[in-house]
Amino acid sequence: MNGEDLLIMIPGPTGLPPEVREALARPAIGHRSQAFAELLDECTAGMKHVFQTESDMLILTASGTGGLEAAITNFLSPGDPVLAVSVGNFGERIGQIAGIFGADVTWLRFEWGEAAGVSAVRDALAQKSYRAILFTQNETSTAITNPVRELAQAASETGALTIVDAISGMGGIEVRTDDWGLDVVVAGSQKALMLPPGLAFVSVSERAWRAAEQAGMPRFYFDLGKARDYLGRGQTPYTPNTSLFFALQASLRLILAEGLENSWARHAQAAATVREGVEKLGLKRFGDPEYASNVVTAFLPPEGVDPKQISSHMLDRHNILITGGQGKLRGTILRIGHLGTVDQSQVSRTLGALEEAVEEAAGGRA
Ligand SMILES: Cc1ncc(COP(=O)(O)O)c(C=O)c1O
Repeated sequence: MNGEDLLIMIPGPTGLPPEVREALARPAIGHRSQAFAELLDECTAGMKHVFQTESDMLILTASGTGGLEAAITNFLSPGDPVLAVSVGNFGERIGQIAGIFGADVTWLRFEWGEAAGVSAVRDALAQKSYRAILFTQNETSTAITNPVRELAQAASETGALTIVDAISGMGGIEVRTDDWGLDVVVAGSQKALMLPPGLAFVSVSERAWRAAEQAGMPRFYFDLGKARDYLGRGQTPYTPNTSLFFALQASLRLILAEGLENSWARHAQAAATVREGVEKLGLKRFGDPEYASNVVTAFLPPEGVDPKQISSHMLDRHNILITGGQGKLRGTILRIGHLGTVDQSQVSRTLGALEEAVEEAAGGRA
């Protein structure tokens, strides 16, 4: 098996375009140099565009979860009441982080495969005064995209901050941070941004900065106020992964050349083809189709077949990596990621291999 030829169709990490791979091989620069300041400036401006925000954008050397930790600890104090709206594994994670740092977490959980119900969220918000509402934009574990705009609208009526995990959808699915009134939004590098893992992006509204002044949760590495101060001088507080910043510059140039809205449309097209292809094979899709994600599709294997049999066939015979379920969906579903560099030829290759895997599984059962 050759890593070079692996077609990676999981919901991150994704494949890397040649421009990104070349950028990763560039000679090192000093992180307190003018060259880095210029790189940081271009990357920050580009990420603001991707987030559709004029607010501050902080780029952290961390995986997405580091960004989530920053999004909690910089804006809340121990004891603060927060509403964690969970529709899957990652909805659980953001609420768990808040709880570990001492927030008073009220859970509003929906069945895995459903999106967050806006009226239920409104009802929950009406019952208590919350400092913040936490939710995922795109729930990778169930392949569901939440109605972010409506959830944010419901929160804004109560004055609660909206803290959103947009790690897997940012760049691939429409997010309009400012127009939708999102206060703190987190993204990660290894998803639709076509980069290796290792950078987290956090946008912070003015309202959130005001909350930060009172926020008493402990933080050190992920102190966003400090990151903002250093950004003013073209630096980061601690040594950043400079190679990943070169890669980010390259990927942002690709995204800008394609056009953000065109990227959203390409993801929507890939998703539509995958969903249709899966159904044509007689497989049942998992989750509410009305909220189906444009970056990942979840479905059930043929009845009586272990999902691992399908994914192993695809990897061993076709060198295509897809994945199974997480958390309580482990051993139940399969997931195909279609994000980042995804195009129709990758999708057709994947569906062709899936067809063979399904036929083989059917043969095995006969
Ligand atoms: C929605 C969501 N949130 C959080 C994470 C965690 O990100 P990381 O693994 O980069 O820390 C992921 C990763 O798949 C994700 O999809």
